[in-house]
Amino acid sequence: MPETALPASATKPAWDKLAALADAPDGRLITPLFKADPTRAETFSASFQDMFLDFSKTSISPEALAGLLDLARAAEVEDFIKRLFAGEPVNMTEHRSAMHMALRSKPDAGYRAVLPEGGFEDASAVAAHERARMEKFVRAVHDGSIVAADGKPFTDVLNIGIGGSDLGPRMVSQALTFVHGAKIEPHFLSNVDGHAFAQFARQLDPARTLVLVASKTFTTLETMTNGHAARDWMAAALGEDAVHHQFAALSTNLKETGKFGIPEDRVFGFRDWVGGRYSVWSAIGLSVALAAGWDEFEHFLAGGRAMDGHFRDTPLEKNLPALMALTGIWNTDILGARTLCILAYDARLARFPAYLQQLEMESNGKSTRLAGDRVAHQTCPVVFGEPGTDAQHSFMQLVHQGPALVPVDFILAAEPDHDRPEAHRILASNVFAQAEALLAGKTLAAVTEEMKKAGDDDATIALVAPHRVFTGERASTTILQKKLDAYSLGRLIVLYEHKVAVQGAIWGINSFDQWGVELGKKLAQSIIPQLEPGAPIGTHDASTTALMHRFRSLRGEA
Ligand code: F6P
Repeated sequence: MPETALPASATKPAWDKLAALADAPDGRLITPLFKADPTRAETFSASFQDMFLDFSKTSISPEALAGLLDLARAAEVEDFIKRLFAGEPVNMTEHRSAMHMALRSKPDAGYRAVLPEGGFEDASAVAAHERARMEKFVRAVHDGSIVAADGKPFTDVLNIGIGGSDLGPRMVSQALTFVHGAKIEPHFLSNVDGHAFAQFARQLDPARTLVLVASKTFTTLETMTNGHAARDWMAAALGEDAVHHQFAALSTNLKETGKFGIPEDRVFGFRDWVGGRYSVWSAIGLSVALAAGWDEFEHFLAGGRAMDGHFRDTPLEKNLPALMALTGIWNTDILGARTLCILAYDARLARFPAYLQQLEMESNGKSTRLAGDRVAHQTCPVVFGEPGTDAQHSFMQLVHQGPALVPVDFILAAEPDHDRPEAHRILASNVFAQAEALLAGKTLAAVTEEMKKAGDDDATIALVAPHRVFTGERASTTILQKKLDAYSLGRLIVLYEHKVAVQGAIWGINSFDQWGVELGKKLAQSIIPQLEPGAPIGTHDASTTALMHRFRSLRGEA
């Protein structure tokens, strides 16, 4: 057992206490907590700068909050935070630090990270060095001193990457250029599906496009397939030489980027202490900087850095990521919620739920504890979401009236970045209304009364009223900030990053590896040649074999 792994027995009494609190009469209700404590809205909230976190609309009582904090202490969360920031190899299955904080740190912050060959390196300095190279490149593209093969400026940037090499830059670029447009129009190609490539080949002019092949490992099948397709597309249109002018690589793997034919001065690197899902702050964020501008990228890093400082230095009772983590633990493990719904009332954050799906589920969708035994609790909930108010007209029916508890994170900026304040009041009113409806619900008596007033007869009321009842007592958390800009978006992302890390520490799992994606990748590699016309189909389960035969016969290639 690794020396930092805690036995499950260390946290068992704290878990048992929480379960007992939930099982007590009214232990899962929210409204009595508000009745009992008129100050609950203040005491069950916390803030950092202008970011406000309200977790009062949950069934966490004062005793439960104390119990959750006891759980965090029993799980040695404070020690975990120290080890994380000290660059200890918290990613123990790969013997790596999880030092993404260095990417947004000041150059002299002194964050360090474990080197594969042993010892530590100055991660802040390494990150600053690469950031300076990125800045030079981005500014040169913007001022026209780096141009396309024909000597004219770039108008479009195509980021080819998947997972962490796509979701972060895609989400952040969209958010930061949504209203005022981009300096260079960003595009994102992730799916190996040839239809996706065909769409870009139709839309983009190869002569005006800068291609970024973004892959930490530079071996990911999807990205390499699309990277080669883009290379062929450009070489066919402009000649092989254009590839040298119009391609750059974002990767940790210099050997492979060289093999691909990208010159070293066009390779922007990062280290293996940056996990894919934490890499938007690294060279992987180059498309963000190209689209939104270097200064915006710096503001983005500054927001992330500010939240790092808050997380590292604030006691758990006032620590936003820790409080969010504990709220999630209560909802998931104690109340049994299997999902988490992310509702950002902000069209600019349309990709935020997709981003969080990887962050949360790839980090904490695990069942084996550091100690090697199986977790005794649920770990990561299934994360899903859509921007509000769109979501209200699709899946919110289930959230309000379905039998399962679906906790919601509402996210809202008080000030819009447009000049229609009335539209923003309408948007905001829906956040408050949804959260209030989830909490308060509507009783049969209230529905009956309402229907009577509307002139419905008794038979109609008896038939319809039960369907119009809302049980209420449904948990939500609200994150409210002054506005959404590069700084506050950086802060918001890091809030979730550290929330996920705290939850991983409490569950006793490694949040920083992702072995669960390997098996499917390997099998796909072995199946590819078996889909060639006439190739023998290997040994599979009967269903897979039959489907492969049918696939080939539908293509006339049996
Ligand atoms: O499939 C999982 C994964 O390894 C992610 O963790 C990662 O973000 C993604 O693939 C892409 O990896 P790479 O950046 O190495 O191409």
